[in-house]
Amino acid sequence: MRIGILTGGGDCPGLNAVIRAITRKGIQEGDNILGILHGWKGMLTSQHEELTLRAVSGLIHKGGTILHTTRTNPFKEDGGGEKVLSTFKRLSLDALIAIGGEDTLGVANRLYTEFGFPVVGVPKTIDNDLSGTDFTFGFDTAVTIATEAIDRLHTTAESHDRVMVVEVMGRHTGWIATYSGLAGGADVILIPEKPFNLDRVAEVISIRHARGKNFSIVVVAEGAQMEEGGGEALVKQGEEVDEFGHVRLGGIGHFLAQELESRTGFETRVTVLGHVQRGGSPTAHDRILATRFGVKAHDLVKEGRFGTMAALIGNRVDAVSLEEAVRELKTVDMDLYGIAEIFFG
Ligand code: F6P
Repeated sequence: MRIGILTGGGDCPGLNAVIRAITRKGIQEGDNILGILHGWKGMLTSQHEELTLRAVSGLIHKGGTILHTTRTNPFKEDGGGEKVLSTFKRLSLDALIAIGGEDTLGVANRLYTEFGFPVVGVPKTIDNDLSGTDFTFGFDTAVTIATEAIDRLHTTAESHDRVMVVEVMGRHTGWIATYSGLAGGADVILIPEKPFNLDRVAEVISIRHARGKNFSIVVVAEGAQMEEGGGEALVKQGEEVDEFGHVRLGGIGHFLAQELESRTGFETRVTVLGHVQRGGSPTAHDRILATRFGVKAHDLVKEGRFGTMAALIGNRVDAVSLEEAVRELKTVDMDLYGIAEIFFG
């Protein structure tokens, strides 16, 4: 078979490990593997390169994606779906593996349902907000980086008797905040799934300090919102939206720090972890998960099970429909958040 691979959306540790796995397994089984460059944009502009054993050698530990990525939505263009289809035919492809999150796989699902396009998905995102799979690859790496940052910030918080606010990514879900906050022993964790009350947060910190603790660590997800805003108070970096209608989040940490300092009187500082969470080498866990997903995606192509996505269910890698994967965002398990709450204050 001649199989195309593309990576779309934000880059993510483990993308190269998936590309390597599909290419190695595919070549072993006599397939030709073609890398489509720059995500869905490459399917509009026909940018591609042959993936050989040499091209994927030494890749498993490398962050980013050798295929490059964009947030291009082909359906934003008139006749975009048809253009993707005609590139697919021109390149003599038999199947395409799309590695991405809700946007990239949302496009894959539309192409499958509207055009019968032979596509299989692989779930990628540091945000872990994709349904149908217990975990996406990249999430463990982001959590590991954020946890290490929280550990380091403890030092300065304790030495200077400060409140340290750590803003983490995650878009509209609080998976990274909950996991890293729990692992890093955060004193408060704020997530989009549970709008917060500023006075209540300040009170938790004040009570903690009155108890004799001289510092606090507050982890806030970039998409967290105050109750006071009625759920409409997202802190964003502007009004601009990308081709999938997403605003750029960020800034809640600074707002929170100011408000907490004025309410509690404790010196407060902010660290915004930003893209550091997406950069560099994947953890061993993500390398293995990405490899298992890549192998499964290739199996699904060979079995002709199009319109599906490789998924981690328990400890098994299985297939779910793309439809199920993109139907709704997977939000934080509130039982887990409840466990984190036991340690607040
Ligand atoms: O989806 C991954 C993610 O890192 C989000 O956590 C974040 O909101 C967004 O991408 C940032 O996107 P960009 O790299 O386009 O600024």
